[in-house]
Amino acid sequence: MATFTVNGQSVTVEKNQKLIRFLRDTLHLTSVKDGCSEGACGTCHVLIDGKPTKACIPQTDRLEGRTVLTVEGLSDWEKQVYTFAFGEAGAVQCGFCIPGMVISAKGLLDVNPDPTREEAAFAIRNNICRCTGYVKIIDGILLAAKIFREGKLPKASADDWKMGSRVHRLDVEEKVLGTGQYPDDVYVDGMCYGGAVRSRYARARVLSIDVSAAQALPGVVCVLTQKDIPGKVNVGHLKKDQPTLIGVGEITHYLGDSVALICARDQETLEAAKKLVKVEYEVLPAVHSPREAAAPDAPLVFEGDENNVQAYKHVSRGDADGAIKNAKYVLTQHFHTPWTEHAFLEPECCVALPLENGGVKLLTSDQSAHTTMHECAAMLGVDYDHCQVQNMLVGGGFGGKEDMSVQHHAALLAYVARVPVKVKLSRQESILVHPKRHSFDMDFTMGCDENGIIQGVKASVVSDTGAFASLGGPVLERACTHAAGPYAYENFEIEGRAYYTNNPPAGAFRGFGVTQTCFCTETLLNEMADLVGISPWEIRYRNAIRPGGVLPNGQIVDESTGLVETLEAIKPAYDEAVRSGDPVGIACAMKNAGVGVGIPDWGRCKLIVEDDGKVHIYSGASCIGQGLGTVLVQVVVTNTGLHRDDIVYERSNTWIAPDSGDTSGSRQTLVTGEATRRACEKLCAALEGKALRDLAGQEFYGEYLAKTDPLGADVPNPVSHVAYGYATQMCILDRETGRIKMLVAAHDVGKAVNPLSCEGQIEGGVVMSMGYALTEQYPIDDTCKPTARYGTLGLFRANQIPPEIQAIVVEKPGLKVAGGAIGIGEITSIPTAPAIADAYYRLDGQRRLTLPLENTPYAKKK
Ligand code: FES
Repeated sequence: MATFTVNGQSVTVEKNQKLIRFLRDTLHLTSVKDGCSEGACGTCHVLIDGKPTKACIPQTDRLEGRTVLTVEGLSDWEKQVYTFAFGEAGAVQCGFCIPGMVISAKGLLDVNPDPTREEAAFAIRNNICRCTGYVKIIDGILLAAKIFREGKLPKASADDWKMGSRVHRLDVEEKVLGTGQYPDDVYVDGMCYGGAVRSRYARARVLSIDVSAAQALPGVVCVLTQKDIPGKVNVGHLKKDQPTLIGVGEITHYLGDSVALICARDQETLEAAKKLVKVEYEVLPAVHSPREAAAPDAPLVFEGDENNVQAYKHVSRGDADGAIKNAKYVLTQHFHTPWTEHAFLEPECCVALPLENGGVKLLTSDQSAHTTMHECAAMLGVDYDHCQVQNMLVGGGFGGKEDMSVQHHAALLAYVARVPVKVKLSRQESILVHPKRHSFDMDFTMGCDENGIIQGVKASVVSDTGAFASLGGPVLERACTHAAGPYAYENFEIEGRAYYTNNPPAGAFRGFGVTQTCFCTETLLNEMADLVGISPWEIRYRNAIRPGGVLPNGQIVDESTGLVETLEAIKPAYDEAVRSGDPVGIACAMKNAGVGVGIPDWGRCKLIVEDDGKVHIYSGASCIGQGLGTVLVQVVVTNTGLHRDDIVYERSNTWIAPDSGDTSGSRQTLVTGEATRRACEKLCAALEGKALRDLAGQEFYGEYLAKTDPLGADVPNPVSHVAYGYATQMCILDRETGRIKMLVAAHDVGKAVNPLSCEGQIEGGVVMSMGYALTEQYPIDDTCKPTARYGTLGLFRANQIPPEIQAIVVEKPGLKVAGGAIGIGEITSIPTAPAIADAYYRLDGQRRLTLPLENTPYAKKK
């Protein structure tokens, strides 16, 4: 027992427990976010006697007489200042890390009111942010310091909400103060806790499951096995190959497969009950790699399949062999890129509430409420009235929250037990369960003429898609279609195979396969520039696709094509680095916005004038931290002339908001943005001569189909995607230390709806891919078990980023929809690794063809 002070109130805690559990579960101080519960992520920072401390470390019994402060306990003035400063700086994306950042900032500013940039970065070194790249969070802390010193709030730099304004995001306050709800922040009366008993072996036949002891444990509400599933057992994003629960007699696919689900009155009972479920297995040989999967006598990950090939793609145009044969210069290399963990700060969580009609309502954190509804309704065997989904705040996704992880389990438990159930993955489960970025092995050959003009590229790639299909097929396809790079040449051929293994599944991850093949094309191009005797900048400028040009996939690109402008934007800094003899590396990229390749890609939006006389935006499109809600409000302001205060953004749900597809493929700004613009046209027509209040109860619907041609369509110039973003990134090293001293990233976004958000996306993407290039690891042992913990993934910290990260937003008009706006969520992460790799080559002459790069000051010592 201990008595201490929390936010000025004395509390007595009878039962010794971690401070985080008391603050969250008893006091419901939800600014204290639970990102890992193992002292690695920093989201649960509080001040103890004025010192920033992770609340997941101290036990309450050790706190006698101490003083604890959370964001809820800040003064009103402090709350105003941090909200303004973080909004003005653009510091908030998904927001899950932000209250912890505020606490660390307060810990600094209370003792050092005028910190340097380095001191601010050092103060948040124990707070991981996966979205922002830290640049704007540090800006926010320095601005807060200035406001505290001056004692008054300045005017916001943008006060109109038209497209193009650097407005504060609409959800800044709730994210800074921790009042906005992620699913884990939901506490309802009688709420129980659910979780899964997972397989002990990556590949084994389940012989028996005995749940009797777990069922008999006091406090256990129910224990479910496969026979309790009323509808379809399997879920799966495209292919239904992922069992909600593995049944007796079936073979497991990976260590994350679930054999039983438990619902208990409290979290301790849940964990105790999991240990009481007895499962007998017949252990079978596992498939560890694509090489093993491809062997003629390989065990089959899926019984009944002919082989372990999950997807095969062949993309060909022109005559790559002939072009390479006749080329003056030819280069061939083998490349390898690793698995990557998304490491979003918010672990997967879902709260399922029983509905009076016998169904369930799910409060989720995912990349599409409608996809979750389709998956869970089929598993429960119910219609959509009996399976409703509401998006809560989403604490980062990056592709890792597209598949079912906890939603189907929460739905099943609440549906059967008729109690509210929260299912949340531990950080270690999260590291195991959600699909990762694919590891790729790639062979590339490139031929150029004497001027460095690309004549042809031929490649073959192999990916490890792990235990389930997930989005392995589309990722492989995008890897292949974009492997040619953003260049104008005609002869291209690539063959790709994705193999099932018993490793954790791989699926969508920011960049969607292009991150991998871009590393090859751009590295070869840098090597080719040396062979030809021109600069890496020049070889790109000569080959760059320009408006009206034809990409290797046959598509004629439109006026919005801005690759050349991104090259020109970085030229001054590039020339300066070359002049001063600094090692500098460069790479370009293109990335589709929208799903493309003939797949129906709908954006949908409903504008409803409600009784409050305001326009409410309903779209079934998840905002996962990229700022979609702010974008849509800006679209409505721009296209209706209404004031921002007349507009309310509603988070995605399945019963009012029309399905606008997954937040994937950098598509929402373009596709849902255009649907919203179309709804605005109808609203404007109705508004003529009327006030908003006169339209109360009316709905205005807009939809947009991003129409494209299928891969291999028999047309001379297929439209594979409605739009592409283009980028050039550059890395300059410090000759003495070998560390990065500057990263410059120029991105063509068409029209920047909110330039502040665009910069934040660029900075965040670049720092995420610095990790991919230099430090991040996701090792898997010979039992197919990922061995990393959150603290060993190799994520960059605030005090480790380069002194300068320059985000250049290039606007190239020409796209005829969505006001010309092209999403940039993914492309920000694509060219970083090859740019960094080339900078190291310029430093030491070692051509590095695998990631993370070896022999850099950032590399793990062996
Ligand atoms: Fe920092 Fe998302 S804003 S983790």
